[in-house]
Amino acid sequence: MPSSIIAGVGHYVPSNVVTNKDLTKLMDTTDEWIIERTGIRERRYAHRTEETTTTMGIEASKIAIKNAGLKNEDIDFIIFATLSPDYYFPGCGVLLQRALKMQEIGALDVRNQCSGFIYAMSIADQFIKTGMYKNILVVGSEKHSFGLDFTTRGRNISVIFGDGAGAVVVQATEEKGRGILSTHLHSDGESAELLAMYNPGTHANHWTDVKYADFNNAELADMFMSHAMIDKAQNFPFMDGQAVFKKAVVKFPEVIMEALGKNKLKKEDINLLITHQANLRISQFVQKTLGLSDDKVYNNIDRYGNTTAASIPIALSEAFQSGKIIEGDIVCMAAFGSGFTWGSLIMKW
Ligand code: COA
Repeated sequence: MPSSIIAGVGHYVPSNVVTNKDLTKLMDTTDEWIIERTGIRERRYAHRTEETTTTMGIEASKIAIKNAGLKNEDIDFIIFATLSPDYYFPGCGVLLQRALKMQEIGALDVRNQCSGFIYAMSIADQFIKTGMYKNILVVGSEKHSFGLDFTTRGRNISVIFGDGAGAVVVQATEEKGRGILSTHLHSDGESAELLAMYNPGTHANHWTDVKYADFNNAELADMFMSHAMIDKAQNFPFMDGQAVFKKAVVKFPEVIMEALGKNKLKKEDINLLITHQANLRISQFVQKTLGLSDDKVYNNIDRYGNTTAASIPIALSEAFQSGKIIEGDIVCMAAFGSGFTWGSLIMKW
């Protein structure tokens, strides 16, 4: 059975740097509050019109494909993870396929928010192991700056998120003992509404005072996105930060230990841990729980904020570029986020 290696990795972040001080001009917040609670000093925001989730994903993909020593036509399948797609539908995968003039290959969008990249990697790994594909492009990209509430009302969320993209080429190898050793995926929908963007959506809250017989286009449009929803800020994401924090600090270590246990590895065997960059305090808590030294953990949330599905591939790309990952290293990746969903991946590089 073939194994999945990461043959190429790349990332792209917009050039526009937005500091905490910049945000203080828009809302009641301070540099100190943001650094103390989240560890974030600055983030990148994509160009309003010229950059989209797909265009950033394309830039990251070009680097990953080049680093793998491949051409666009060598890619057999695309998996694109994002919560901030260019269109409500179709997904970003097909837009990337078109832009990179790829063959008429399959393109799948994954909507698992912060754990989207781990889920996407797990899917890629299954396709490689069954022998169906040889080179799969996995992308994580987000343009959060497009849909955040930049008033004081939305400050608990808007200070956290940033834009960017990362990509990897997952490739089949017959070499034994290398590549992805296992992936572990979980969910608990009990708290689905605690970190969510409700609209536009088909959930029942829209339907309370409208009878089927009364339908007309105006009412339907109103259910999709009404002025009332906008007035109540229901077009922006909602987050119960403390609930997310409490669950994340339990599930991150649990799913990392699950990956280690499955492969009969110990915490000390990890050469590099890359967790989804949700919040520096969460990452530090996980590091402490596992007893890992600073050189075994990669964090960049101070520079990019939380880039959701893009955060792991951006960090992976930076860590690889800076020589922090070498062949034979045990690299563990883990994510937790909206859903709640969480997961881990462990590999021998
Ligand atoms: N600047 C200044 N004050 C802020 C603020 C901001 N950006 N955001 C919230 N506050 C205020 C609140 O209004 C509240 O004020 P009050 O006490 O007068 O009511 C106070 O700070 C504390 O709010 P709270 O939400 O309890 O803060 P917290 O210590 O839980 O920190 C988070 C907020 C969001 C940083 C924290 O809960 C967190 O990191 N959660 C995890 C979030 C996460 O990782 N999300 C990504 C998931 S993948």
